[in-house]
Amino acid sequence: TEQTMNAIAQKVARCSRCVLAKTRKNTVPGFGSFQPLVMVIGEGPGADEDETGLPFVGAAGKLLDKMLEAISLSRDTNCYIANIVKCRPPNNRTPLPEEADACISFLEAQIHILKPKLILAAGRTAAQNLLKTTEALGRLRGTFRDYNGIPLLVTYHPSALLRDVSLKRPAWEDLKLFRAELLRLVPDYAKDFIKK
Ligand code: URA
Repeated sequence: TEQTMNAIAQKVARCSRCVLAKTRKNTVPGFGSFQPLVMVIGEGPGADEDETGLPFVGAAGKLLDKMLEAISLSRDTNCYIANIVKCRPPNNRTPLPEEADACISFLEAQIHILKPKLILAAGRTAAQNLLKTTEALGRLRGTFRDYNGIPLLVTYHPSALLRDVSLKRPAWEDLKLFRAELLRLVPDYAKDFIKK
């Protein structure tokens, strides 16, 4: 698994399938456990991620880590975190369909290798591209969907929660639903999780 994941990251580092390759500083293949219970999928790198080559390390990333910790998940123990596109879109714009389409086979390969028990899709871009749908975020939330046999839950992107605090309560409801399914599938998953 480690070798295959590293090979994917090396292919990403050399990728020039879309225009985002021209403006990136670093590619951001993903980070976390190579035996993850959960994969968390966001939209794409921002400025901090482009600088470091690591996903979700800016303000949204700090919030994401708090959200995951609340349900006994973390990138250092039982999660792998990645994005739909692996290079920063200029000005943090939403990735264009052709950019997402050019990139998503890397993510698909990572999901296939890592075989998480559950997927958490953060925000509309992640949800729509993974599920190949144009359904609205509000309709995609609330129930588990299927991603190639893996249950997938859609929730708000942490950046949206930072912009609109009224979304925090519904997002917490999503996380509780996610935790309940995780507990159903892996009853002792939180057993030796130590909160920071
Ligand atoms: N937002 C994302 O969607 N992904 C990141 O990696 C960081 C911020």
